[in-house]
Amino acid sequence: MEFTVKSGNPEKQRTACVVLGVFEPRRLSPVAEKLDEITDGYISNLIRRGDLEGKLGQTLLLHNVPNTLCDRVLLIGCGRERELGDSQYLKIITKAATTLNDIGAMEAVCYLTELTIKGRDVAWKVRHTVEAVTDALYRFDQLKSKKDTARRPLRKLVLSVPRRRELTSGEEAVHIGTAVANGVTLAKDLGNLPGNICTPTYLADQAQELAKRFKAIKTEILNKADMEQLGMGSLLSVARGSKEPPTFIVSHYHGGNKDDHPVVLVGKGVTFDSGGISIKPSAAMDEMKFDMCGAASVLGTLTAVAEMGLPINVTGVIPATENLPGGNATKPGDVVKSLSGQTIEILNTDAEGRLILCDALTYSERFNPAVVIDIATLTGACVIALGKHASGLLSNHSPLAHDLLNAAKASGDRAWELPLWDDYQDQLKSNFADMANVGGREAGTITAACFLARFTKKFHWAHLDIAGTAWLGGDRKGATGRPVPLLTQYLIDRATEQRANAEEKKT
Ligand code: BES
Ligand code: MN
Ligand code: ZN
Repeated sequence: MEFTVKSGNPEKQRTACVVLGVFEPRRLSPVAEKLDEITDGYISNLIRRGDLEGKLGQTLLLHNVPNTLCDRVLLIGCGRERELGDSQYLKIITKAATTLNDIGAMEAVCYLTELTIKGRDVAWKVRHTVEAVTDALYRFDQLKSKKDTARRPLRKLVLSVPRRRELTSGEEAVHIGTAVANGVTLAKDLGNLPGNICTPTYLADQAQELAKRFKAIKTEILNKADMEQLGMGSLLSVARGSKEPPTFIVSHYHGGNKDDHPVVLVGKGVTFDSGGISIKPSAAMDEMKFDMCGAASVLGTLTAVAEMGLPINVTGVIPATENLPGGNATKPGDVVKSLSGQTIEILNTDAEGRLILCDALTYSERFNPAVVIDIATLTGACVIALGKHASGLLSNHSPLAHDLLNAAKASGDRAWELPLWDDYQDQLKSNFADMANVGGREAGTITAACFLARFTKKFHWAHLDIAGTAWLGGDRKGATGRPVPLLTQYLIDRATEQRANAEEKKT
């Protein structure tokens, strides 16, 4: 898909389709009104007749509209004008994208970016249009022998901005939106690939691909022997039951100064989670192929950041393994020694995410991080608490939590904070080791984070539990690419702030 921005009147567009908004009840948006005058009331006549009420997501396709140069005019219902907010806007855009794709208009000029949304500027609307359209038209059909792609799919979308002086910020927004969308698409593809294809080795290969694609990225892969030598006993205890070798991926994006401390992103890369000896029930177990979506979001975010060329340093760290039962698998009651030296009694082999993350977090100390953020499909309890709408956020540094929550709001990729009070630490007591790997039924998302907190004392750290947000179930089953938009926004904000601080120093 190609996106561009333009400023100009709808009647002058020589295009397959012009897209305009209509509010409920039967009220034209300002641009639609302008066009209506030129068409001598053609549009308002149809609407008065009752052909389009303007309800959110309704559509009406018109051909041969008088006094225009376009083949078609697509009217989209925008709901009530004063109720038009972020989520309504994204629904309208999604509807426009799927309709355009279906009707065979291979290119279109879209005026929905001129709708007024409280607190949002043109750049926001352009950027989120690019993201929402890409999201709506995403298909995962690489494993189907017959692809059911549209015969004449939407190829080119021109986004209208009201004033010529907004063209530059519009183009910049297309650039950012495209980078985020590409990161999301990569994360979705990796998430959707099944466990027999997307193995720990496959993830490592993909990270090496990134290094080939972008000059600023360097990737390094540690193998099982390296992990043994380092003493990653906790991570290795998860890999024991599987024939697939684990991998440990480190990808550096170098966009800042040599001595700028990096933001380290640690992604859970369990390419299939059967639960191990504490085996899961079989219903919906296929969805545990998505247990590497944290890892996928790290690679997706690195892609977005590299495409934008952000002037910061980011390091991605991915512990990748399967969690399977087997003759050699870890058993409940086993005690292992983590890279940090702390010992862990594994009471439940299905709480494997924290076991691989703790060693990756300890390993991250060596990068002298500005902050460390881990991203993991860590607990079913998080899905119970927050559902699929918000990722869980826990942090040992409130300014970092604050920045992430702001990025979540700005990107629409929402997160919600849960407390990380020491009171919960008691639940991890073990009679046989420094700690147990599970803390009982109560507050499962928090005790999982409490476990990780014992390995993050040396730096500012936040944890995103994406168990509810990383994929959808049911008939829309598939990876969402979240939280790539949130993480990318956080890094954009960081780069912007850094630049502002540097400017201030100069003056
Ligand atoms: N990958 C799962 C978490 C998960 C479960 C995500 C369902 C999304 C949907 C994780 O490894 C896990 O199994 N967690 C256990 C922890 C428990 C044993 C303390 C869980 O949540 O049941
Ligand atoms: Mn598990
Ligand atoms: Zn898991």
